[in-house]
Amino acid sequence: MHATWKLADGREITLDVPEGESLMQAATRHGVPGIIGECGGSLSCATCHVVVDPAWADRAGPPGAFEEDMLDITEAGREPTSRLSCQIRMSAALDGIVVRVPQG
Ligand code: FES
Repeated sequence: MHATWKLADGREITLDVPEGESLMQAATRHGVPGIIGECGGSLSCATCHVVVDPAWADRAGPPGAFEEDMLDITEAGREPTSRLSCQIRMSAALDGIVVRVPQG
């Protein structure tokens, strides 16, 4: 399974992401610029912020209640399909998902 990150400078990075791994874990493991994952996925840093491509937003689903609160403190500002990527776990339904890394 794979996912694609679109960077602020126009580059795109596509990575293999095993089922069950979060997009934050995959991004930090491969050094995707702009994804820090400072808290390790415990929903307390918001440095894993991504904007889900609108075509994938339904499948990725809405943020959870606590994630909602954290999205309000993202450095780049929240967008309609913003998510914290530590909360998006790869699954068959998300194979091929495209997200954008917001400019910090
Ligand atoms: S890694 Fe900290 S909130 Fe996602």
